[in-house]
Amino acid sequence: MKKIAVQDFQKFKRQNKQFSTLTAYDFTSAQLVDKAGIPLILIGDSAAMVMYGYDTTIPISVEEMLLVSRAVSRGVKSSFVVADMPFMSYQTSVEDAVKNAGRFVKEANVEAVKLEGGKIYCDRIEAIVGAGIPVLAHIGLTPQSFHQMGGYKVQGKDIDSATKLIEDAKAVEIAGAFALVLEGVPAELAKLITETINIPTIGIGAGPSCDGQIQVYHDILGLFGTFVPKHTRQYTQLSETISESLTKYKNEVQEGVFPSEEHSAHISSEIINAVKDK
Ligand code: KIV
Repeated sequence: MKKIAVQDFQKFKRQNKQFSTLTAYDFTSAQLVDKAGIPLILIGDSAAMVMYGYDTTIPISVEEMLLVSRAVSRGVKSSFVVADMPFMSYQTSVEDAVKNAGRFVKEANVEAVKLEGGKIYCDRIEAIVGAGIPVLAHIGLTPQSFHQMGGYKVQGKDIDSATKLIEDAKAVEIAGAFALVLEGVPAELAKLITETINIPTIGIGAGPSCDGQIQVYHDILGLFGTFVPKHTRQYTQLSETISESLTKYKNEVQEGVFPSEEHSAHISSEIINAVKDK
């Protein structure tokens, strides 16, 4: 399969070709997502919750993101790989933003970075793009602003906030972002933004009219048990399958059923006799 480049996403938009994208956080899952032909893998800062067990995405550090990003990159042959810039790795200054974006490219071999925020961070987007690193922008429900939003809430539901989102979308396009994640945005507004800007929109909880869709690996595979976010479809229930298999393994070891003959190697009784009194 051919390697996906940043220009391909512009082509998908021009050709009206809807595309899927998905998160991944380790070597094995990255290999599977890549093999499925999903053109973009995001190493989301949702790693904070699904890999490191934090309550929100806020505590995860650059070092923790780099660790998972390196593992993902090693597993990918075709997909375009984007790393999420964690909270406070770009908000503090343009210089920090460029320096930290550069770390992801140099130390984790990713091809682009994602950051949350519209107009307010356009100087960061411009500077990172200026340094030769593609940027995926992210507006709407931006989980790093959890405390300011007062929880995970759909954004753009009134005239003022909808207007702000349209302005933010236009601003990040002008700043040079190659695509825009729209998270938790009413479907009608996401459709309008998608028709208004020339870069592809990638929706999560933003309806069917975005150019692409993004989901969290653990959500679509049912790795969180019974919890299903409203924006997700579970394509399987892996947590159930895994739990059943783990219980079976535990029981078979307790009952002496595993390992069996086929799992064992053998040597002759002469060797055993020769070594048993040593
Ligand atoms: O961190 C993440 O997984 C994300 C996507 C859900 C867009 O930002």
